[in-house]
Amino acid sequence: MKDKLIIFDTTMRDGEQSPGASMTKEEKLRIARHLERMRVDVIEAGFAASSPGDFDAVQAVAAIVKDSTVCSLARANDRDISRAAEAIRPAKQGRIHTFIATSPIHMEKKLRMTPEQVLAEAVNAVRFARKFADDIEFSPEDAGRSEIDFLCRVLEAVIKEGAKTVNIPDTVGYTMPEQFGGLIRTLRERVPNSDKVVWSVHCHNDLGLAVANSLAAVMNGARQVECTVNGLGERAGNASLEEIVMAVRTRQDVFMCDTRLDTTQIVPASRLVSGITGFPVQPNKAIVGANAFAHEAGIHQDGALKSRETYEIMRAQDVGWSANKLVLGKHSGRNAFKQRLKELGIELESEDAYNKAFQRFKDLADKKHEIFDEDLQALISDEADVAATELWRLVSMQQESGTSKRPQAKIVLSESGAERPAASEGDGPVDATFKAIESVAKSGAELLLYSVNAVTQGTESQGEVTVRLAKGGRIVNGVGADTDIVVASAKAYVNALNKLQSRMERINPQM
Ligand code: KIV
Ligand code: ZN
Repeated sequence: MKDKLIIFDTTMRDGEQSPGASMTKEEKLRIARHLERMRVDVIEAGFAASSPGDFDAVQAVAAIVKDSTVCSLARANDRDISRAAEAIRPAKQGRIHTFIATSPIHMEKKLRMTPEQVLAEAVNAVRFARKFADDIEFSPEDAGRSEIDFLCRVLEAVIKEGAKTVNIPDTVGYTMPEQFGGLIRTLRERVPNSDKVVWSVHCHNDLGLAVANSLAAVMNGARQVECTVNGLGERAGNASLEEIVMAVRTRQDVFMCDTRLDTTQIVPASRLVSGITGFPVQPNKAIVGANAFAHEAGIHQDGALKSRETYEIMRAQDVGWSANKLVLGKHSGRNAFKQRLKELGIELESEDAYNKAFQRFKDLADKKHEIFDEDLQALISDEADVAATELWRLVSMQQESGTSKRPQAKIVLSESGAERPAASEGDGPVDATFKAIESVAKSGAELLLYSVNAVTQGTESQGEVTVRLAKGGRIVNGVGADTDIVVASAKAYVNALNKLQSRMERINPQM
C-alpha cells in the first residue's frame, strides 16, 4: 500500500503574508470550509499572536472545521505559543507550529543569537508547546541555507522533546531540486529517531523551483508538503497546492505516496482565493489557469479530438473545470439561492446579509440571464468586502467615451452615508472614473496594479477587477465584479480605499 502524503495548506498564513492579501475573519472561514471540503489534511489558519484579528480568525476556523487539523503558527517564545494554543483550543484536531531560524545569516543578523541559544530556544519552545497539545510541528527557518551538522543537532533535540512533524523550509527559495531532495535524504538518515516523525517541506518560489523542490523532497521521503492555493505567498509565493497534488496524482508511477484530496474542488478553490485576495491567476498557470486545458493550435485540437490522451495528461473535470455550469437564473427564488451558496460552502453571518446578497443576485440576473457558480462567488466576495470595511460606497456612476471624444466620468460616492458627487476627464473611461473617485476621496494612494479578468466565458461575463493601492508602506488589493467593467473597476477602487482606511495591521512572524 502507498504512503499517505499529508497536504498542509498555508494559504491563510504564508499566503496572507503577500502584500495586499490580508483576509477578514469571514473570508478565512469561507476558505477554511472549502479547504475542508477539498479534504486538505492540515489548515494553517494564521499566526494567532500577530494581532487580535488574527487570533479571532484562527479561533473561528478551529471552531468550525472538523475533518482537517487546524494549526496556528507561533515563534519560539512562550507568548506566541500560548496565544496559538488558546486559538486552536476549540479544534477537534489542533496543531501548534513553532519555528526559529537556524541559518548563520538569520541567527547572526536577524535573531542576534548564537547557535547554542537558538538550540536552547527551539527545545524550550517544543517543550512548552507540548504542555498544550500533542500535535507539535517544528520548523528550522531557512533550513535550506543552514549548516547540516547544526540542523541535525536541532532536529534531534526537538524530536526528543516530542515534536511530531519536522518541517524543512527553503525560506528564500534558494535550493536546487537535487540538492533539496538530498538534504531530506541526509536528514532522514542522520537524525536519530527520524522514523518517529513526519518529514515535511515548505518551499518558496523565488527561483521558480518551489514545486520541483517539494517533489524532489517527496521522492526522498518527505510525507507532508506545505503549499498554498494558486501558489500564493511571500514574494514569488509558495509551492502551489494544485501543482503538487496533481503531479503526485498523475505520476503515480513515480511517487510512492498519494493524497486524500478531492481534486474536483481545486478550480473552485483557486477562484475563491483569487476573488478574496485580489491576486489574479495568470492564464497559462498550470492546472488552474484559464488556458490550462485549452487547445489553441489546430494540430493540437485535431489530436485531442481524435484521442484526448494525445495532448492531455489530466482531465479538466478531474480538477473541477466542469463546475462552470448554469446554476441559477432570473426566476430562481431566495431558497434556491441560499441552497446553492450552502453547496458552495458559503455561509453568511445573518439573514440581513442573505437578503442583501439575494438583492445583488437579482440585480445581476436582470443584466445577465445565466448565472454560474463563479458569478455567485464573485458576487459574495463583493458583498462581504463592502460589508466588512465600509467608509466609501459607490452610489452611482456614468461615463462617456468614444473614438472622437475625451472620456468623461461622473460619480456619486457616499462617505459614511453623505453623498459626494464628482466628475473628471481621463485618458480612458477607467482613468476618468478613478480620477473622479480620487477627487472626492483624496487618498493620495499610488496605483500599483490594475487587472481585469472575465469571471465566466462569453462577452456577457462579469468582469472581475483587481486594484492594488499603496500608501504609507501599506499595500491593499480591492476587488469588484460587474457585467460593466468600468463599474467593476470603480467598485474595486472603492473597495481598496475602504481597506486602506481600515486597520488590519499585524506583525509579520518572520521579520
Ligand atoms: O518560509 C518559512 O520559513 C516559513 C516558516 C515560518 C515555516 O514560512
Ligand atoms: Zn514560508
